[in-house]
Amino acid sequence: MSEPAAQKIEKLREEIRRHEHLYYVLDTPEISDAQFDALMNELKRLEADHPELVTPDSPTQRVGGKPAEGFRKASHSRPMLSLDNAYSAEELADWDRRVHELAGNLPVEYAAELKLDGLSVALTYAPASDGGARLLMGLTRGDGATGEDVTTNIRTIRSVPISIHADHLQKARLPQGQGFEVRGEAVMPEAAFERLNEERERQGLPPAVNPRNAAAGTLRTLEPGIVAARGLVFYGYFLLTSGEYWPQGQTATLDALTALGFRVNPHRGRVRTVDEMIKFIEKAEADRATLGYEIDGVVFKVDAYATQRRLGYTGRAPRWAIAYKFSAQQAITRLEDIMITVGRSGKLTPTAMLTPVFVGGVTVSRATLHNADFIERLGLLIGDSVKVERGGDVIPKVVEVVQDAAHPRGTHKFHFPKNCPACGNAVVREEGEADYRCVNADCPAKLRETLLHFGHREVMNIEGLGEAAVQQLLDRGLVHSVADLYSLTEEQLVDLERFAEKSARTLLNEIERSRKAGLARVLMGLGIRFVGERTAELLAQEFGSIDAIMAAGAEELERVEEVGPRISEAILDFFSRPANRTLVESLKNAGVDMTAEKKQRSDKLAGLTFVLTGTLPTLTRVEAKQRIESAGAKVSGSVSKKTSYVVAGEEAGSKLDKAHELKIPVLDEPGLLQMLEDPSTAQK
Ligand code: IVH
Repeated sequence: MSEPAAQKIEKLREEIRRHEHLYYVLDTPEISDAQFDALMNELKRLEADHPELVTPDSPTQRVGGKPAEGFRKASHSRPMLSLDNAYSAEELADWDRRVHELAGNLPVEYAAELKLDGLSVALTYAPASDGGARLLMGLTRGDGATGEDVTTNIRTIRSVPISIHADHLQKARLPQGQGFEVRGEAVMPEAAFERLNEERERQGLPPAVNPRNAAAGTLRTLEPGIVAARGLVFYGYFLLTSGEYWPQGQTATLDALTALGFRVNPHRGRVRTVDEMIKFIEKAEADRATLGYEIDGVVFKVDAYATQRRLGYTGRAPRWAIAYKFSAQQAITRLEDIMITVGRSGKLTPTAMLTPVFVGGVTVSRATLHNADFIERLGLLIGDSVKVERGGDVIPKVVEVVQDAAHPRGTHKFHFPKNCPACGNAVVREEGEADYRCVNADCPAKLRETLLHFGHREVMNIEGLGEAAVQQLLDRGLVHSVADLYSLTEEQLVDLERFAEKSARTLLNEIERSRKAGLARVLMGLGIRFVGERTAELLAQEFGSIDAIMAAGAEELERVEEVGPRISEAILDFFSRPANRTLVESLKNAGVDMTAEKKQRSDKLAGLTFVLTGTLPTLTRVEAKQRIESAGAKVSGSVSKKTSYVVAGEEAGSKLDKAHELKIPVLDEPGLLQMLEDPSTAQK
């Protein structure tokens, strides 16, 4: 082994871990993103030169193997309980009285924390040979007794340390050589939630309803790369160690977690009386709108563990803690009008236009009404007083019509338009669908949305093609499809309002540059339903050109990872329409590049099926899978009689037992590498 390289790599890893902690846990970066990327790239390069030195705890290995077929269930070391709730000062006072009665002469002070609206997870750390600790397993709460093993996904959350240095254990006063468990909440910040929903909208998918659901869905995603991109954040609030080394209370635990390198929510304190609890609650309610993540209340915990032990548990919750739940934030205002917008797919969406009202820290003047049925169900009249609510959902909604003497009924019924408000064509509601759609291919509203989507930063990335520019291009009749963008001239643009020569030239340059954006982005730009960034990327890699994709049948399309019948059907439907084929042709004629580098494949090992289990010494799960697949073989998640080989690494589990049982040949990593090198050794 090359000693200097090993040292260099370890030093670099330490450095990167330190910066990850500064950035993702403490929010106090010392270097720029570019400098951080440079360090990471340097490490990747060194590791590529020395694959034998790659270890699972390297910062490059956050995105690793993939749980191919759902998640394994695993038992919690101790049950994950829930909390009893209080909704008023009286209920808090009752609880406080009970605590004092039961505590007798033991001290009663409370640790106060925010109740984060995410999902609780349990992280197990195992002692490592260097005196530190390594993340072993991450479990969801599940039913409290057993959870799902989502380790591969948890590893991608940057505020979760995958490796903890011996010094940090010492600082936290945890003994070396022993495992421990950290519990806490995984939350999706509001900004990440909005990004997710923009992406879903581009894919023609319904939006996620709230950050908690989105976080839960994300942790159960089978693609760690996607989880990594979603930006979940983990806050620790619980530490389980073996008996005598317990910190002496909740406040001490949160300090210990901080010392270990975990993110601990900074909005915490200690209170003694109900009055102080109320003050803490009021402060939390005031901070709520600007936190950047959702909370649904405040948690009070008896601080001293000795007192907690005396109080004990009821069936499902500790007696020593209580969750004060915020009531949903509601306000009454007036429905002034209902506005209809037409989306890229032609869908008509009604939006309530409200007299502006302050709800939960923000001014609300619009709320979603979903569709015609929803309006019908509420029995809404224009001019009605309505109750609007901001709950766990970021998007405010109208929950009911208010009817009493102070709020007389509104004046007139809203008639859902029979014609598209943008083009006047009759709208269509298909059997079994909740939405009305404008099916006119030339509808200007659809064209407007299509152009905006096409130019979006994450699609063709045409800077300057914003709402104002698009509107003017449409008003002047300069574009009738996205392909027309490529024949715009400087003279046409300077003629537009607020278009100086310089911005005209910039826009033209941007359009010009977008010709080289590549197949994946063009695919996204076409706006095929369900085809978002990742699917477009995979299709581009697999087929290499738009012609190949247009020529493919369902079976070929579904050979692409993540493409199932629903997506293949949408693709086939899209290209079966003459207007769409013409559009592709025009883009091609305009010189838009519709090719991509095709992933190299061979058929050296065609017909074979491999199953991977355990940790391989140098290859990550993803790398091993890619190599096997590019040799033409399949990788499956479970062992059956059809399995050709099982590739087993360290800590291989039940799949290896199954292989022995079914007498399926087992390879180690060198065996696999040799077979990839020399396929003649394989028995087909
Ligand atoms: S302590 C045995 N602290 O609320 C008590 N829970 O309603 C364990 N939660 O399942 C929970 N923020 O998912 C605790 N600061 C906090 C919390 C918190 C959010 C969640 C957690 C738990 C649920 C109980």
